[in-house]
Amino acid sequence: MNDMKFPSNFIFGAATAAFQIEGSAYADGKGPSIWDQFSHRKGKIRNGDTADIACDHYKRYNDDLSLMKELNLDAYRFSVSWPRIYPEGTGKINQKGLDFYSRLTDGLLEKNIEPFATLFHWDLPLALQRKYGGFENRDTSDYFAEYTETVVRHLGDRVKNWITINEPFVFAACGHLLGVHAPGKRSLTAYFKVIHNLLLAHGKSLQVIRGINPDSRAGISLSYSPVHPATDSEKDRQASLLANQFMNHITLSPLYNGEYPEPLRRKMRFFIPKIKDGDMKIISSPSDFLGLNVYTRDHALHKWYVPFLKSWIVSKKIPEAEFEKNGKEYTSMGWEVYPDAIYEVLKTVQNDYGNPPVYITENGAAFNDSVMDGKVHDEKRIRFLQGYLEKVNAASREGADVRGYFCWSLMDNFEWAEGSGKRFGLVYVDYETQERIIKDSGYWFKNLICLKNGE
Ligand code: FCB
Repeated sequence: MNDMKFPSNFIFGAATAAFQIEGSAYADGKGPSIWDQFSHRKGKIRNGDTADIACDHYKRYNDDLSLMKELNLDAYRFSVSWPRIYPEGTGKINQKGLDFYSRLTDGLLEKNIEPFATLFHWDLPLALQRKYGGFENRDTSDYFAEYTETVVRHLGDRVKNWITINEPFVFAACGHLLGVHAPGKRSLTAYFKVIHNLLLAHGKSLQVIRGINPDSRAGISLSYSPVHPATDSEKDRQASLLANQFMNHITLSPLYNGEYPEPLRRKMRFFIPKIKDGDMKIISSPSDFLGLNVYTRDHALHKWYVPFLKSWIVSKKIPEAEFEKNGKEYTSMGWEVYPDAIYEVLKTVQNDYGNPPVYITENGAAFNDSVMDGKVHDEKRIRFLQGYLEKVNAASREGADVRGYFCWSLMDNFEWAEGSGKRFGLVYVDYETQERIIKDSGYWFKNLICLKNGE
């Protein structure tokens, strides 16, 4: 740990998302989200888990604020649940929803923890999905701007850091192409529409935030998993290039270059929606920072039968029996532990996208933790965090403008389609009793922050 030197203004935080921790799915006038509906559909979530209670954070947020203080966090990244604010997605505002985030914000500031609020972390109001087709409809970007305005008018005097959208690629791909996340669709056309409309929503939201509070800082959070060729062959190299564009540059390129990446755009031209004049300008309006969520890398293989792209991603979801193969280590998600991924991402953004200020808005790992004598000895997670943070530090020494790092996650929570079994937290949650236990990795992280602050 001592080899890592982070400047004292580097921000260390932890991240969560509303649907994954809050519970109280219908409390105080909240409307249903697409995830409330999807998670109750048979067979969609591992073990039939739901997030109706999750970490019960909506009721226990005060205890959770104390945990954050105990961990000495500089910052906390949370998300605002759109259907708590607009139960119908648009129109009537639910004041009680706003009050909750207001109390949370005040609690953070009292404890000297900097709030980073995400406006959309996937829990779209169900009404918008049912009435308009959700983000397949470009009007949803206007409803998002309306919602942004309400939240920023209410919290913007105290919240100065805004993340518009979390991971457009994952929301579009898992929710609209693979059907494994809400709303559970499988369509390539829907996938591209949703990517485009989310980016548009981001741009519009950015303008709203700026208009209300010129002193606030805003950006988007992107998933970025570098895709490497599965073998040295030229065909696999080509496959990895396209897979990288499909997963990563599909968002970065419009945001920073104002255009979809080539040759992906050409190959996919029958699926990409009609782009209206002015859209790319809105999408590429300058952000104050870029959020990056980095966990692992992927591998691509050339497959002649994959339409258009001829590229197939092979590495995600390795079966548990193969975890120890090839001397590689995997998390309980089946994701390879590969610290160089975060270095590669930071260097790519530095060299190819103009070195914008960056926050790692998510990085972390799920392992099968267990409680022993009231403690959780999660050495694997400590090793994981140490390994990735060393690479963040290396990229930063080489000029990447990285300003902060948020661990995913503050506490174990509802991991979407994987349910409650995948534990990512610095804090362990016993879902029966809602007891919280700071894991060894939590104390390790705390110590890192103290060292950085010279405490
Ligand atoms: C990211 C999501 C986050 C969490 C982590 C493990 O894709 O943004 O909510 O589920 O993965």
